[in-house]
Amino acid sequence: MRNAALFALAASLLISGALAWAKKPKASPAPTPASSPLAKPPLAADPLVTATPLAPAELEALVKRGRVLYQTRCVVCHGHDPKEPGTLGPEVHGASRELLEARILHESYPPGYVPKRSTRAMKPMPELASGIAALHAYLNARED
Ligand code: HEC
Repeated sequence: MRNAALFALAASLLISGALAWAKKPKASPAPTPASSPLAKPPLAADPLVTATPLAPAELEALVKRGRVLYQTRCVVCHGHDPKEPGTLGPEVHGASRELLEARILHESYPPGYVPKRSTRAMKPMPELASGIAALHAYLNARED
């Protein structure tokens, strides 16, 4: 009897430990200089997360493409200056890659993100999947 109770206790501890581990938010990796031997391999085939930094000309081209995408697909609601609120949408300058992906592709938000607006006016644009990196580069560029 006593053994059975101990076993049940051990099992429940194991399960709750496993659950806590599974729920633990993934820590975002600390930025590691690409030259460091500790630099991690690229997370995805994305120029912004590869270990090799983009050449200035490549980054400039990406920002340019993002600006064109923004002006054709976002400006109508978010306005010309991403740092200011637009007619419908809030300011989006500095948006993270995760936020853009969640919002543009899946009509959602990253876990734990507090949206700037509680409305649901922005519809998903899955056709922009290949433009997320460019939009991210544009919305996070030092000079707009
Ligand atoms: C039809 C108008 C409309 C268009 C077009 C639109 N948005 Fe939005 N967007 C909104 C509105 C309104 C919100 C606030 C939440 C909602 O109502 O969906 C929003 C929210 C967002 C957010 C989340 C802001 C936050 O921090 O809470 C991001 C990021 C964003 N938009 C980026 C974009 C980008 C990038 C584009 C272009 C590819 C775009 N939006 C196109 C209207 C629009």
